[in-house]
Amino acid sequence: MLDFAIHIAREAGKLLRDNLGRKIEINHKSRIDLVTEIDLASEQLIKEMIQSHFPKHQILAEEGGAQGGQSQYKWIIDPLDGTTNYAHGYPCFAVSIAIERAGEVIAGVVYDPMRDELFAAERGSGATLNNRPIHVSDTDKLSQALLVTGFPYDIRTTKRNNIDNFISFMMNAQAVRRDGSASLDLCYVACGRFDGFWEIGLNPWDSAAAHLIILEAGGVVTRFDGSEFSIYGNETLATNGLIHAEMMNQLTIGSAALK
Ligand code: IPD
Ligand code: CA
Ligand code: CA
Repeated sequence: MLDFAIHIAREAGKLLRDNLGRKIEINHKSRIDLVTEIDLASEQLIKEMIQSHFPKHQILAEEGGAQGGQSQYKWIIDPLDGTTNYAHGYPCFAVSIAIERAGEVIAGVVYDPMRDELFAAERGSGATLNNRPIHVSDTDKLSQALLVTGFPYDIRTTKRNNIDNFISFMMNAQAVRRDGSASLDLCYVACGRFDGFWEIGLNPWDSAAAHLIILEAGGVVTRFDGSEFSIYGNETLATNGLIHAEMMNQLTIGSAALK
């Protein structure tokens, strides 16, 4: 099934790459949350391929939501992670596909078609980038860490807009980036390009594949207070493990400031 997921991710990635920069239809899901005709076409392609091979499996996809019956298998799909980047022609986006069995993610693939980088993992078998094993970094101090984050689409209306945390990490880490594709951000932690990632309000399709890729690359993923992570929850803290406690500490200070 992982091989099939990889095949689908490559096909969808090709569609994204081939249409980048073309004049496409863009609609607003909310004031700053976009959906393009390419998000929809990619999702349709992915779903059709899954349904032709596994018609009984469940599907949870960003644009179409949940569908399917009682199967213990669920495919969790972000057909274009980084839509705002895509709509502006900024070449930082990916296809993310995860397979859940009986509530546990067992395999995941994230494909960046612009760099032809394919991140994959199967539970218990390690993580790879273009078939080569990957591992998280060995940076062990927050002050030397390169971090990455993202912001929720309700940033203008929610109190938990992540800006307090952003400032605090800007002041305490080596540097912080905001790249606009959570699945790629997480995979970059898995292969050691970033040392840590945090975000509030991700959806299951953003993190399902990539959180497994980090775990299989030797990293740690929890909620901000260190408790158990769920792709259905609303806090993601993912690191190389070595700076996890320092990041938890900063995030707790941030949450306390809001109370
Ligand atoms: C978004 C991106 C972004 C993150 C947002 C996500 P989308 O996904 O991953 O980096 O900050 O929280 O919703 O809408 O481009 O698929
Ligand atoms: Ca996404
Ligand atoms: Ca998306």
